[in-house]
This record gives sequence, structure tokens and C-alpha cells, in this order.
Amino acid sequence: MNRTGFIGTIAGTIVIAGVTYYLTSDRRNFSRTDFKTVSKGSIAFQQDEKAILFLASLAPSGHNTQPWKVSYIEPYHYIIGNDKTKWLPGVDPTQRETILSIGAFAQNLEYAANQYGYQCVFETLATRNQDDSILRVKLNRTVNTPAFDLDKIRSRRTMRSNVQTTPLKTADLHFLTDEAPDTFYYFPNTSKDYQLLNSQTIEANRLQAYRDAAQQELSEWIRFSSKDAEQHLDGLTTAGMEINGMSGWVCRNFYGPSNVMANNFRDKNIEIAQKQVAESAGWLLITSKDNTVASLLETGRRMQRLFLKVREKNIALHPMTQILEEPATHAPLQQSVGISDPVQFILRLGYVDKYPDPVTLRRPVDWFVVQAS
Ligand SMILES: Cc1cc2nc3c(=O)[nH]c(=O)nc-3n(C[C@H](O)[C@H](O)[C@H](O)COP(=O)(O)O)c2cc1C
Repeated sequence: MNRTGFIGTIAGTIVIAGVTYYLTSDRRNFSRTDFKTVSKGSIAFQQDEKAILFLASLAPSGHNTQPWKVSYIEPYHYIIGNDKTKWLPGVDPTQRETILSIGAFAQNLEYAANQYGYQCVFETLATRNQDDSILRVKLNRTVNTPAFDLDKIRSRRTMRSNVQTTPLKTADLHFLTDEAPDTFYYFPNTSKDYQLLNSQTIEANRLQAYRDAAQQELSEWIRFSSKDAEQHLDGLTTAGMEINGMSGWVCRNFYGPSNVMANNFRDKNIEIAQKQVAESAGWLLITSKDNTVASLLETGRRMQRLFLKVREKNIALHPMTQILEEPATHAPLQQSVGISDPVQFILRLGYVDKYPDPVTLRRPVDWFVVQAS
């Protein structure tokens, strides 16, 4: 073989090896429609119960930990509890966000139950965020329950990319906040407080990225590979973090928890936060009356009612909670923006052209519902 032929053979072998490697690699982001529920547990659910409980679980939660656990007392009677294995002590040491997420779960459950013809009777059982049992709920079959379009629950999603800076229309803002205007505070991107929230969000992201306990915890909730994502059906997948295309492929195939602790990963997170805060119509803050479990549950529910309304107006909603999670940025917040009630959510929002379908994963009902003992 002459020299040119030899080089050609080597090059061909390298190309074939490359193509083979790519074809056998983790090629696609694993997302919600890739998982088909097949699991069968030991609970004999009534026909519509499973559908209602699954719709409830489409609620948002920090790092998508899905911190709820349901004890099945009897048909249509459950205790919604705290799954302590899903807590985030690094960023949520008082389980404030856990209770807000359980509130969002309860709101989805109520809307879904109403649509299936049940009225929900809730009783708050917990007095501390850490209690096992948070809420008792009974579903009573009733005529004339309010209708709810379940596609709103199915299609709700957190949106982080391509948010526009176009001002929110006054009518849209009213549509989102009119149910309790004294608990929503909107800071449009022309306001001074918007600038402050931007800079403080970046600062909180910087503090958090270099706080090892928070970063370590994040590393444990990122599902880098599709295999990992499919095994856990929770956490932050590449699709959920909106890391698509070539970057997604690199993450799925070459990244793991140890990369999260490297400085270049931490810096990249800060850079992404900087880019995100520069893209919005403004910030929407949600307050609660106080910090009791009942108020946090109510605030989680209110946030979820808002979240279920934004898509029909093509408005992206992105919780960015780092200011509340870092003591150095949390302490001065209330005074700097002139709000006396406790702030529970900091949400970036703005119009988007395209609203893709949700991609984050959820555990099947049989994984989070257990027969009460
Ligand atoms: C209490 C709470 C805090 C959250 N904090 C953040 C956050 O700081 N940054 C972020 O990108 N998403 C945040 N999220 C959004 C979750 O990551 C998201 O809900 C989860 O990954 C599931 O995705 P989905 O909302 O598209 O269903 C938060 C959600 C909740 C309920």
C-alpha cells in the first residue's frame, strides 16, 4: 500500500470508529414523552384516582425533587406528606420550598379532582415544615364541580430561554394577579428595583455556585445520562435544563457529578444566570401572610394558579429563588424592595415566541403513593 492509500485507510477507520461511537452513545435528551408508565403497585386504585394523583404530581418543585409522598387511607382519602429523602438542605434548610411545592401539588390535585367531578376537603395537619403528615384530603363526588382544562396542567412548564424584554401588557398583568393583588409585586424592567433584583440574583448565584454544600447537592440532583434520568424519573435532566443539541450530547456522554464541583462548571452557571436575568419583561414577587405551614401551602397554591395561567398568554415563568436561599442576599431583600410581608417566590417572566411542550420527568403514581399502615 502506498502512503496515500495508508493515510486513507487510517482516516476511514477513524471516521467509522467515530460514527460507531456516536451511534452507540447517549444521543437524545430523555424527556417526559420517552417514559411510558407500566409500573403496577399493590394499591387497587379506583379508576380515576390514579389520573388525578398523576396530574397533581405535574406540579413544579425545586430541582424537580418531587418532595411529596401520599398515604392511601381508603379510596378518595389520602394524607399528603413530606418525603424527607427529597429535601434540599443545602438550599432549603427550613423546608420552606418543600412546603410551597406541596402546596402546588395540592392545587393541581384540586383542579384535577374538580374536573373528574369531586370536591376536595383539605385539612392542614402539619404545624412544622418538617412534619411527616402535611395535609389530609378527601374527594367527595359532587354535582356541578368547577370545570378545569386539564391540558393546562399537562402543558405547564418552567421556561428559561428566549424570554423577551417586551413590556407586559397591563391586561395580562391583571389577568395573572387580580385574584390577590396585594400578594403580587411586579417590577418591570424599566424600574430601579428590577435592576436591584437582577444584580442580587447574579450575586446570589455566585455565592451559591461557590458554596460547596449547595453545589454538591445540585450535583446529586442532575441526571446527566438518559439512563440515570430513566432510572430516577426526577431531578434536573439535560432537557429540563434546556441544554440541547451538541451541548446536551456532550453533557450526557462526558459529564458527571464531579464536573459540577469544578470551577469552570460553577462559572458557567453564573454566566447562564447573568444571561437569563438580562432577558425578561420584569420580576414578579409573591408574598405570604406569614411563615406558618398553612400560609406556605396557600402561597404554593397561589403560585401554581398563576403558573397554570401564563401559557395561554405566551408568558414564560421562571422561578429564580437564589436570593431567598442565600442569607447574605435574603436579609436585605424585603427592605430594599419595600415589601413587609415575607417574599416566598421570585419569578422572572416575559413573552416568548415559542412555548415548547414540557420535558421534565415525574415518578409514576405507584412510586409516591403508599398504603397507609
Ligand atoms: C419552590 C421552587 C423553587 C424553584 N427554584 C428554581 C430556581 O431557583 N431556578 C430554576 O431554574 N428553577 C427553579 N424552580 C423550577 C423547577 O426547577 C422546576 O419546577 C422543575 O425542574 C420541574 O420542571 P417544570 O416546572 O418544567 O415541570 C423552582 C420551582 C419551585 C417550585
